[in-house]
Amino acid sequence: MTQTITVIRGDGIGPEIMDAALYVLDALKTGLAYEEADAGLVALEKHGELLPQATLDSIRHNRVALKSPLTTPVGEGFSSINVELRKRFDLYANVRPAKSFPNTKSRFPSGVDLITVRENTEGAYIGEGQQLSHDGETAVLTQKVTRRGSERIVRYAFDLARATGRKKVTVVHKANILKSTSGLFLKVAREVAAQYPEIQCNELIVDNCCMQLVMKPEQFDIIVTTNLFGDIISDLCAGLVGGLGLAPGANIGTEAAIFEAVHGSAPDIAGKGIANPCALLLGVGQMLDHVGQPDNANRLRNAIVATLEAKDALTPDLGGTGTTMSFAKAIASRL
Ligand code: NAI
Ligand code: MG
Repeated sequence: MTQTITVIRGDGIGPEIMDAALYVLDALKTGLAYEEADAGLVALEKHGELLPQATLDSIRHNRVALKSPLTTPVGEGFSSINVELRKRFDLYANVRPAKSFPNTKSRFPSGVDLITVRENTEGAYIGEGQQLSHDGETAVLTQKVTRRGSERIVRYAFDLARATGRKKVTVVHKANILKSTSGLFLKVAREVAAQYPEIQCNELIVDNCCMQLVMKPEQFDIIVTTNLFGDIISDLCAGLVGGLGLAPGANIGTEAAIFEAVHGSAPDIAGKGIANPCALLLGVGQMLDHVGQPDNANRLRNAIVATLEAKDALTPDLGGTGTTMSFAKAIASRL
C-alpha cells in the first residue's frame, strides 16, 4: 500500500525549499505519495485561518508530515503555529541531530555527531500560568514536570540509542537548584537508564553542559533534557556545525510525526531562489528513517555530504553561487 505524507509548503522561503526537497525525494524513488495542505500566512489568506481543520485532518490521517517554515503573524490568536501543532498531536519528542559537514563555516568541520532529544510538551517553556501583577512589579510562571512526561522522553532517547547503535546518553538537568522539577526529571531518568545497561549514561548540569559542548563537542552522543534547556542546547549545537542551513528537526508523537528545518521562513531572502535546501532535506532524511526507509535516508545524507565536499552549486550561505534548485539537482545527481 502506498504511504501518503502531508506536505506543507509554508511561507517565505518555504515553497522554494519544499520544491527542492520534493525534487530530491522524487529522485530517490521512495514510493511516497504527497498530499498538500496549507498552514501559516498562506492558509490565512486562502482559508481565513492559520491552521485549517483540513490540514489537521490530513496530518491525523497520514500520521507523517513534511513541513516548511511557517510565519506566525504577530497578534493572530496562537502564540505560535508550531507550538499549536505540537499540542494538537502530542508531539512529545523534539529530535535534532547536529553533525559536522565539510566546507561549512563551522568551528567544528569534523568531530561533531550528536542528537539532542528535547521534551516538547511541558516545563517552563510552555509558559503555563504566566501572570504579571497589577503593579507590573512581579511576574510568575508555573513550571510543571511529570513522571509520565519525563519517562517517555528519556525512554525515547535510550530507544533511539539502541536503534541507531549509539553508545551514550547524557542526561542534562539543573537538579541541584531546581530540586522539584529538574529533580524529578533526573530521578526518572536514572530509573529508565537502569533498564538499558548496555548504553552508557552520564549526567551533566546544564551550564557545565554548555561549556563542554563548546570545548569538546565530540564527547557527546545523545543528549536528553527538558523543554527549555533543549531549546537552547539544540540551537547551540546547530551553531557548532555551521548554523541554520544545516539543522533539521523532527517532532515525534504517538499520533503523528512532523519533520522540518529548524530555521524560519527567512523573509529577507524569500523569492530570490537562494535559500539553502539542506536543512529541510536532512529533515527528509529523518522522515525516511521514521517511515522505515533507512537505506534511502543514508543515500540522501551521503549525497548531501558528497555535494558539500565537491562544493558543487552550493548556496551563498555556504559561500557558493548556486541556487536552491541547482543545489538540489547537484544532490540528486549523487544519489
Ligand atoms: P529565520 O530562521 O527565518 O532567519 C534567520 C536568518 O537565517 C536570516 O538571515 C535568514 O535569511 C537566514 N536563513 C534561514 N534559513 C535559511 C536557509 N535555508 N538558507 C539560507 N539562509 C537562511 O528566523 P527569523 O527571521 O527570526 O524568523 C522569520 C519567521 O520565521 C518568523 O515569522 C518566525 O515566526 C518564523 N519561524 C518559523 C519556524 C518554523 O516554522 N519552524 C522556526 C523559526 C521561525
Ligand atoms: Mg528554539
